Amino acid sequence: MPFDDRAFRKALGCFASGVTVITTLDAAQRPVGVTVSAFSSLSLDPPMVLFCLGKSTSNLEAFRQGPVSISILAEGQQDLSIRFASRGVDKFAGLEMDTAPGGVPAPKDVLARLDCVITQTIEGGDHLIVLCAVEDLITRTGGQPLVYFRGSYTQVGVLPV
Ligand SMILES: Cc1cc2nc3c(=O)[nH]c(=O)nc-3n(C[C@H](O)[C@H](O)[C@H](O)COP(=O)(O)O)c2cc1C
Repeated sequence: MPFDDRAFRKALGCFASGVTVITTLDAAQRPVGVTVSAFSSLSLDPPMVLFCLGKSTSNLEAFRQGPVSISILAEGQQDLSIRFASRGVDKFAGLEMDTAPGGVPAPKDVLARLDCVITQTIEGGDHLIVLCAVEDLITRTGGQPLVYFRGSYTQVGVLPV
């Protein structure tokens, strides 16, 4: 390979993305969640999205089962992003959450939330590609997205609402 891990990460960091927090319940009905930028729309009919999770993610099994709620973070919600990207902490401690279908806890005041069931998982290198059917959604009117670019949180000036 003519490039190393650092160069690969640097190139991928040039792809500005939104940030999601994806939540579900584990087999013991405990809430679990993770910050994910590897999220994409997949299909309009039927409505489907996908996300990619590192295989070292704690509670990976819970994300194979679902249901999951995918919350698209708004500008100013980097604290939520950092919290759900932190290892070895209680990510839900002291956090007031909404309740999505299936009793899945989901962060409040996000730009949009997609409530999904998992239809398929595909092994992709060191990640798991999770295909989801969207069963319900909520979209906030107005608001700007939280953006991640070159390893930092940023915003994209003023976007149309
Ligand atoms: C902005 C941002 C985007 C991230 N995107 C992803 C992603 O797309 N897939 C992934 O597996 N981890 C991603 N991570 C890393 C996970 O959020 C992090 O490893 C998390 O701690 C894993 O959950 P765990 O602690 O429960 O294992 C991202 C982290 C940040 C800060």
